[in-house]
Amino acid sequence: MLKRCGRRLLLALAGALLACLLVLTADPPPPPEPAERGRRALRSLAGPAGAAPAPGLEAGAAAGALAREVHSLTEYFSLLTRARRDAGPPPGSAFRPADGHLRPQSEPLTPLDVFIAVKTTKKFHRARLDLLLETWISRHKEMTFIFTDGEDEALARHMGNVVNTNCSAAHSRQALSCKMAVEYDRFIASGRKWFCHVDDDNYVNARALLRLLASYPHTQDVYIGKPSLDRPIQATERVSESKMRPVHFWFATGGAGFCISRGLALKMSPWASGGHFMSTAERIRLPDDCTIGYIVEALLGVRLIRSGLFHSHLENLQQVPASELHEQVTLSYGMFENKRNAVHVKGPFSVEADPSRFRSIHCLLYPDTPWCPRTAVF
Ligand SMILES: *[C@@H]1O[C@H](CO)[C@@H](O)[C@H](O)[C@H]1NC(C)=O
Repeated sequence: MLKRCGRRLLLALAGALLACLLVLTADPPPPPEPAERGRRALRSLAGPAGAAPAPGLEAGAAAGALAREVHSLTEYFSLLTRARRDAGPPPGSAFRPADGHLRPQSEPLTPLDVFIAVKTTKKFHRARLDLLLETWISRHKEMTFIFTDGEDEALARHMGNVVNTNCSAAHSRQALSCKMAVEYDRFIASGRKWFCHVDDDNYVNARALLRLLASYPHTQDVYIGKPSLDRPIQATERVSESKMRPVHFWFATGGAGFCISRGLALKMSPWASGGHFMSTAERIRLPDDCTIGYIVEALLGVRLIRSGLFHSHLENLQQVPASELHEQVTLSYGMFENKRNAVHVKGPFSVEADPSRFRSIHCLLYPDTPWCPRTAVF
């Protein structure tokens, strides 16, 4: 049993850090050997020997095992492979306390209270964004703001809230932080109560999102999402030109989406507004979603609220129960080893016609949509 848990944790840890590590390994200035870089990143993931284990987990032992077991980038990627194949815990099971439908409502919310930032890049306007525009965004244009990196007249005609960030189109740590910085500033300027960030492969169930957010007061410190690691990430914080110190904190994975209350967002301002988000990200040399966690948890001392209602393509999406789709806040899709990773849902569209399942999900949630077959039986 213990061994099984250890392996689970190990796989979860490895799989979850994919986004961070991929960007990390692309960092300038380039350290000598890719394998060495991988080892170092993994060491920082596993933490220093004897680091305090996360409460309630046999994390110390598992992290030690990870450090011992993983010797090269090749092995790391084979771990990722196994992690994606391995079944995670059923969605929601470990996270019930934070989930919206079980919490009393705190304040009524309208769509205009929420600012949903969708991060994309020009290359994916047709391949990914059009699907979102056809499905969930079509019902929630007033909540949604698209942050991209290139002009697109077709998109601008379709949607008012398109922001060209002028950030680089590269998938680098700096480019991602550049977009997050613009998202943050636009949210603050909007005066809205809640900031939510999602990627261009996320389906947002806006009704479930409003229900969840309405159960928290927006004036208080709220940072809610799903961590992708089973323990805090270990990073090194640059405190001065010559001084570094270890820091550890939880963060919500950007690929599953996360939300921040206005009360908390305003407190983040010294490290997030204007150009500060980029320099904060430089301080720990981690991607945008990790930097958010660093500001909230490490600098402001506010704890991430975990919710099992957010889903990224790094988890096994087949495990989201079809009966609970109405409650999920975000969903995703992706490919892995030429195999589809998508929510398992019976719907009016075949898997061939709707590989992401987003059209079928949309018809389930909004059956009055004109292009949804009338006779659909779910
Ligand atoms: C991007 O550049 C254009 C043209 O210079 C400018 O109008 C726009 O405000 C810039 N966007 C941001 C987010 O700064």
